[in-house]
Amino acid sequence: MAEIVIVKDTAEAGELAADAILALVARRADAVLGLATGSTPLGVWRALAGRRADLSRARGFALDEYVGLPDGHPESYRAVITREVVEPLGLDESLVAVPGHLGPIETAGEDYELAIRAAGGVDLQVLGIGTDGHIGFNEPGSSFESLTRVKTLTQQTRRDNARFFASVDEVPVNCITQGLGTIRRARHLVLLAFGEGKAAAIAAAVEGPVTASAPGSAIQLHSHVTVIVDEAAASGLANVDYYRYAWANKPEWEGL
Ligand code: GLP
Repeated sequence: MAEIVIVKDTAEAGELAADAILALVARRADAVLGLATGSTPLGVWRALAGRRADLSRARGFALDEYVGLPDGHPESYRAVITREVVEPLGLDESLVAVPGHLGPIETAGEDYELAIRAAGGVDLQVLGIGTDGHIGFNEPGSSFESLTRVKTLTQQTRRDNARFFASVDEVPVNCITQGLGTIRRARHLVLLAFGEGKAAAIAAAVEGPVTASAPGSAIQLHSHVTVIVDEAAASGLANVDYYRYAWANKPEWEGL
């Protein structure tokens, strides 16, 4: 099962995830990082920037992207990844790919899968989760075998993301996202969630039945998952006492 770590705030979560990323990059400077957008991972990027590690050889693959925004739109995930991750962390932009930007949209899914495979696969994938349980932009119903492809956003996700745009009508309807199958191939998944709004999605992902109706539950099919949540996001979990006990008794040598 996933390791569940309950932290006091986003800063503590960021430091923990940064530890795992830096341990990986110390082993292999050209490690492949799976990068997520959204407000959830911001503490991770902040913590990493604060450590001033040399990440210039690390490679990156973003999880997802809107389809239909003009090139250079500040809310495109290409722009967000550049602003929030590449620049503050000192990554080499030419080593960071975002789906939908490698060639024509018709073959963008396949092209992205080939690029990930050519890089040797993702070593550590940072993940957030949507209030409806989506990971990446894999909305409820997405196949656990799905690969990178163009999808249609739910109205709930468009409403959730409207805060980044002037109005909900400006949020694109289509997106391109790594599939649940793509995400499951990453060697280590680090899923973060904060706040009460994510409690139901986290409970479904960690303890609910494995079902395409809860895309986050795909993590139960993976052998190396770390879920980092605050008290509010953990509030729907039934086995919380065990998670705390297991974390308190974790062998020191294990790492995340
Ligand atoms: C967005 C992104 C996801 C992200 C999720 C949660 O739509 N496509 O990758 O994990 O929704 O966003 P936030 O972290 O801002 O709550």
